[in-house]
Amino acid sequence: MTTALVPGSFDPPTKGHLDVIARCAGLYDRVVVGVVLNPSKQSMFTSEERLAMLRETCAEWPHVECVAFAGLLVDCAREVGAEVIVKGLRAMTDFDYELQLAQMNRHLSGIVTMFVATAPSLGYLSSSLVKEVAMLGGDVDELVPPIVAAALKERMAHE
Ligand code: PNS
Repeated sequence: MTTALVPGSFDPPTKGHLDVIARCAGLYDRVVVGVVLNPSKQSMFTSEERLAMLRETCAEWPHVECVAFAGLLVDCAREVGAEVIVKGLRAMTDFDYELQLAQMNRHLSGIVTMFVATAPSLGYLSSSLVKEVAMLGGDVDELVPPIVAAALKERMAHE
């Protein structure tokens, strides 16, 4: 049985993230989505909100669970019993940094990182861009799961 850890900030989760999680759900026996707690980084949604959005969106897969973690990703991988870390790659611009992280994590723990190519139709998508478009009044309904679109609308209404 192989467990894959899919880590990220998920602030907020996008259809690009979901595409990667869906691919992992089809490949691995157990998938753990790890939401990083980064107190020094300003996030739009709290870790509880990000977790709730991911849990609702991943509810269709019984073998996918969502957890929050602080500290090193490799420690989270050890705690949840993951043999593999999976990251999405949208473009070459992601590659240098992701390779550096993968090699550092390999150095720290020996863990394997696998890369999933995101669907070409979602390659331009990022949480930062989704937030910018939503904040400027643009329509993000096709870019994020429905629960995230609703949360963004509510957040904008109270800004
Ligand atoms: O969605 P993101 O922001 O690209 O995710 C980045 C993430 C969470 C994978 C990365 O920041 C991370 O691994 N953070 C945990 C801290 C850590 O292990 N740092 C050393 C990485 S080599």
